[in-house]
Amino acid sequence: MPRDILPEPPDDLKRHSERLRARILEAIGTSGEIPFEQYMEMALYEPGLGYYSAGLHKLGRSGDFVTAPEIGSLFAACLAGQCVETGAELGDYEVLEVGAGTGRLAADLLSQVDPAHAPARYRILERSADLQRVQKDRIRQDVPDWADRVEWLEQPPVEAWHGVLIANEVIDALSAECFEIRDGGVDQLCVTNTGDGLGWSTRPAPERLEAAVRHLEKDTGLALAQGYRSEIRPRLAAWLDSLTATLARGLALFIDYGYPRSEYYLPERREGTLMCHYRHRAHDDPFFLPGLQDITAWVDFTALAEAADACGLAVDGYTSQAMFLLGCGLDRVLSERSAESEDGGLALNAEARQLTLPGMMGERFQVMGLGRGLQHEPAAFSLRDLRYRL
Ligand SMILES: C[S@@+](CC[C@H](N)C(=O)[O-])C[C@H]1O[C@@H](n2cnc3c(N)ncnc32)[C@H](O)[C@@H]1O
Repeated sequence: MPRDILPEPPDDLKRHSERLRARILEAIGTSGEIPFEQYMEMALYEPGLGYYSAGLHKLGRSGDFVTAPEIGSLFAACLAGQCVETGAELGDYEVLEVGAGTGRLAADLLSQVDPAHAPARYRILERSADLQRVQKDRIRQDVPDWADRVEWLEQPPVEAWHGVLIANEVIDALSAECFEIRDGGVDQLCVTNTGDGLGWSTRPAPERLEAAVRHLEKDTGLALAQGYRSEIRPRLAAWLDSLTATLARGLALFIDYGYPRSEYYLPERREGTLMCHYRHRAHDDPFFLPGLQDITAWVDFTALAEAADACGLAVDGYTSQAMFLLGCGLDRVLSERSAESEDGGLALNAEARQLTLPGMMGERFQVMGLGRGLQHEPAAFSLRDLRYRL
């Protein structure tokens, strides 16, 4: 999408983006370039200036994009059902939500979970100090009875715990390396000062990035063609390990848009999956107004499964969001709620369609359940098992 048809921000936001751009140019400094991964990290998380750190409140209908929990409360009701089921196997359990956005999922889950089977505690690991404030306000306002059983963490838990970890649209927001195949070798895509702004540059990939690209070629049996560009997250396994190292028993649910590796790196997807969201427009220019737009890359679920294996977690399920929600009892929740609603369930049905239809969020979004020490297969994954595609 050309820049000139994206909506103009007001002057104060333009100045905000300029300040972040100046900080990025400083990082580029005399070396002349920084890896794209570092650029994405700064654009999203630079303290006080990054997209998620600056207090611009950009999630939801009035912001840049809408996530499943922001559409309504059905998504949270379904997740509450899976928490209760896993909790029944574990006895006392807790929930750890990673990257909680506006806190809507936490508030809706806690207000809908059956009190007799509720978690003992709900913890939120959120790296944005600004979003933590938003989440605290939301919990105080929407579920005041829970205020003393919701806790915020700066780091993953250090003591052993058991329960359910939930991360909705978090992996896509982790910074990614971009690479390009050039003359049979692998280049690392970097960001440079082009003189009139920020732009792409390339250099030979460092060993770790090259090894990661060669691994995916070997795994898929595809030799990526000259000029092929895509993304990869070589730090995913270390991140997953840090999150789940102390999960003694339980289930970690990762929900995101993505593909198994064989589809992610298809020859025809030669421009990769990098995507930016600005005021409900999706486009592919990551240098447009840094700090004012979201930058994401799709998730390679095979890489997540490999990371799980390295961390000693079992892939207990992998399916589409639609089948996951139906496995969690979406149809039952829908009919119970519809009977109680004033419009006979019209709004709820529209919400369910948005969450489940293949052309909306139903197929694009996928769910992986990583278990440790569980005896029973989670019901959420019982309807359609896509693990064979990993
Ligand atoms: C796309 S938003 C999704 C928010 C929410 N889960 C939802 O579905 O509405 C990504 C969230 O993950 C947080 N985040 C990103 N990386 C994180 C990390 N390494 N640890 C904790 N939170 C993180 C961001 O600050 C933000 O709250």
